[in-house]
Amino acid sequence: MKTIIKNIKELVNVDYKDRNWSSGKDMSKINTIEDAFIEINNGIISSFGSMNSWEGIDDWNNTKIIDADGGMVFPSYCDSHTHLVFAESREKEFVDRLKGLTYQEIAQKGGGILNSANTLQKTSEEELIKKALVQAKKVIKTGTGAIEIKSGYGLTLESELKILRVIKKLSEITPLTIKSTFLGAHAIPKKYERKRKDYIKLITEEMIPQVSEENLADFIDVFCEEGYFSIDETDKILTAAKKYRLTPKTHVNQFTILGGVELSVSHNALSVDHLEQMCKKDFEALQGSKTMPTMLPGCSFFLGIPYGPAKEIIEKNLPLALASDFNPGSSPNSNMNFIASLGCLKMNLLPEEVINATTINTAYAMGVENILGSIKKGKKANLFITNQIESYAYLPYSFGDNLINKIILNGIIQE
Ligand code: NIG
Ligand code: FE
Repeated sequence: MKTIIKNIKELVNVDYKDRNWSSGKDMSKINTIEDAFIEINNGIISSFGSMNSWEGIDDWNNTKIIDADGGMVFPSYCDSHTHLVFAESREKEFVDRLKGLTYQEIAQKGGGILNSANTLQKTSEEELIKKALVQAKKVIKTGTGAIEIKSGYGLTLESELKILRVIKKLSEITPLTIKSTFLGAHAIPKKYERKRKDYIKLITEEMIPQVSEENLADFIDVFCEEGYFSIDETDKILTAAKKYRLTPKTHVNQFTILGGVELSVSHNALSVDHLEQMCKKDFEALQGSKTMPTMLPGCSFFLGIPYGPAKEIIEKNLPLALASDFNPGSSPNSNMNFIASLGCLKMNLLPEEVINATTINTAYAMGVENILGSIKKGKKANLFITNQIESYAYLPYSFGDNLINKIILNGIIQE
């Protein structure tokens, strides 16, 4: 079955050659084609070009035509960092913060990640699937076509596996491309407070082998932060994961610089995420590495903490990815349009830079850059058609809006 989208005002972020990521000055460049068409064959992009060069339809019986009617076509967002599976929202903590408590103070009182773990442990797999599906539908509606989802609200072997099974189920029942990450090292559970070593042992000797045995995760994550996991503990966990070929994607430098960037790079991490705080050594560690620096401006916005030095990353010729960090505690919104707006408004990035940061670079940060993240022949047809807009800059400009008219995932229109 063929699908042709015609009368596209501008086809955005086109690739003619392979591209793993976009870095430095290249981030402010994107290829586009004005007055364009795109052809999709069995879910894969088979051709595109200007309307003038379109050869028309050869097989009317097997071709569906979509008129973009002057809308633009973008590759779907790839969201390379989320915690989408959770049992309950945490707006009570939000109110506590409005009254003056900090995120860390709330966590110290047993709120935060431990609060989410408590509620998740009591929730059945079926119930979690239902809730996650509601969230996944919102994700699709706002133009995301691929998503990484972490465990980390289980914190027991049983509940961590439960989350990972929910993620697996989501990848079977939704059209999203999903990658899953095991984040048993998200927080130290209360009962291990005075025997941290035992929890690390549980992660390295029981959880990781079991997760791997059941083939439930693509990646491993650790929240390397004061009050969570130390450098030494992070090192132990990443070392244990290596035996099971789990590539790291770590939480580092959210509040404190512990050396997590250097450590993660030394473990060949696919990405280092958060980076609200960065020092010279961190930039140096990233130079020449294969690790994608990833910032999460939704978390800075929601918690009122600093935004990462995005411009500096690009000035240093590095690549930069922007993801949503969707979770109930520090970023309760999965809308990548809004993340793109924050990139421009709060990090001073250009529209081209945020487009690259939320598509090809996040695709790299979840290991799908060969099949997603740009409009390229042979890539999956995950894209969206916008309403009529004057220029692609209008997308991040109109913050909080949803300008998406039609969504196509795996070549199929999502109703
Ligand atoms: O990326 N920082 C660690 N984990 C999440 C927040 C988790 C939570 O508050 O529930 C984050 O911000
Ligand atoms: Fe996170």
